[in-house]
Order: sequence, then structure tokens, then C-alpha cells
Amino acid sequence: MANSSIFFLLFTVFELFSSAIVTAKHPPYYQTISPTSLGFHREKFSHLHFYFHDFVSGPRPTAVDVAQANITDKSPTLFGDVRMADDPLTIGPDLGSKLIGRAQGIYAYASQNDFGLMMIMNLEFLEGKYNGSTMSLLGRNNIFSAVREMPIVGGSGLFRFARGYALAKTYFFNVTAQNAIVEYNVYVFHY
Ligand SMILES: *[C@@H]1O[C@H](CO)[C@@H](O)[C@H](O)[C@H]1NC(C)=O
Ligand SMILES: *[C@@H]1O[C@H](CO)[C@@H](O)[C@H](O)[C@H]1NC(C)=O
Ligand SMILES: *[C@@H]1O[C@H](CO)[C@@H](O)[C@H](O)[C@H]1NC(C)=O
Repeated sequence: MANSSIFFLLFTVFELFSSAIVTAKHPPYYQTISPTSLGFHREKFSHLHFYFHDFVSGPRPTAVDVAQANITDKSPTLFGDVRMADDPLTIGPDLGSKLIGRAQGIYAYASQNDFGLMMIMNLEFLEGKYNGSTMSLLGRNNIFSAVREMPIVGGSGLFRFARGYALAKTYFFNVTAQNAIVEYNVYVFHY
């Protein structure tokens, strides 16, 4: 009894002593800093316009099924189907027009009542000053609505702190082949 109390006391003293040393050696893990110290001076507002090519059929598909539920085939809205996409983004509606980026990510048929996709996409830009910068899109895409609005929830590079929205409008859709070309207008605040 006495032995274990002494041991406990020694152990506590040792712990206090060692944690004091650790605290002394390191600054706090957080601090308030000025945004300008990292170069965030003035928030900008940008509009981007491009076409998104999503091809499920054909010789070179850009979107592939990666999972589905056992009821997906019987669902009138393909509920449960999950696709991985690496879709080219071009300056015009023609796939041969200048490539400006790629939309990489997942879309899933998330609705039992309509063709409401859940979109989780990284928009990677490859052209001009935004080459190497990305934006993250996360939202609901009811593909048969005339215009779908999806949030831009973040970004990297020149799109750090990006927040805004994308408006998607179908330009071409072959329902049989499930191939689509979609016009995107993106409006974002960023630095
Ligand atoms: C689908 O899977 C569930 C869970 O394993 C099972 O209970 C159900 O019978 C399956 N339905 C069909 C149509 O195969
Ligand atoms: C974009 O950046 C990559 C990596 O720095 C570079 O290899 C590529 O040539 C650039 N593309 C354009 C169109 O500037
Ligand atoms: C739509 O896709 C089907 C199946 O791939 C094809 O036979 C048909 O010609 C396509 N229609 C158009 C308008 O592209």
C-alpha cells in the first residue's frame, strides 16, 4: 500500500516535470495571424465557363461504374449506382476544342424519385494562370432539370478559400449511351 503510494507520487512528480519540459520546448499549436502575412490581400470574384464531357459508352469511356446495389437494375432512377469519372473540361462544346481542365471524382445516383446525383468532384485546371489550381464541387445534380446549381465548397492554389456555385446546363445527352456534354458556368470568390 505504502509502496504503491510512493510510486504513484514519484510518477506524478515525474510527469509534471516532463510535461513542463515539453511545454517549454514547443510554441502553442495555434496562433492568430494576419491573412496578408500569407499573401491573402484582396478577395476576387471570378466567372469560369467551360464544357464537361461525360462518356459512359463508346471506345473511350470517361466515367465507369464502380459499384451498385442489388436493386439498382430494377430502380427507375438507377438508385445506388456509383461512378468514378475523369471527365475532360474544354473551352467549347466540341471535345476537340482546347482542354482547360478535368473533373475528377465520384457521382452517385442518390435519389429514388428522380435522377438526382450526388456529385463529389475535384475540378482540376490545366490551362493559363489557373494551371495546377483546383476547386471542390459538392452538390445535388438533378440531371433532367434545365439548370442545376451546385456549391463550390473549397479550392487549392489560386482558388484557396474558394466559395461559390456552379450552374450546369445540358448541351447534349444521349440517354441510351448515357453520354453527356454539359455547359458549366462557375462563379467563385477566391484570393
Ligand atoms: C438485396 O440484398 C439484401 C441484403 O443482402 C437482401 O436481403 C435482398 O433479398 C436482396 N434483394 C435482391 C432483389 O436480391
Ligand atoms: C501546366 O503545368 C504543368 C506542371 O507545371 C506543366 O507541365 C504544363 O506544361 C502546364 N500546362 C500549360 C498549358 O501551361
Ligand atoms: C446514342 O447512342 C446510341 C448507343 O450508343 C447510338 O446508337 C446512337 O446513334 C446515339 N445517338 C446520337 C444522337 O448520338
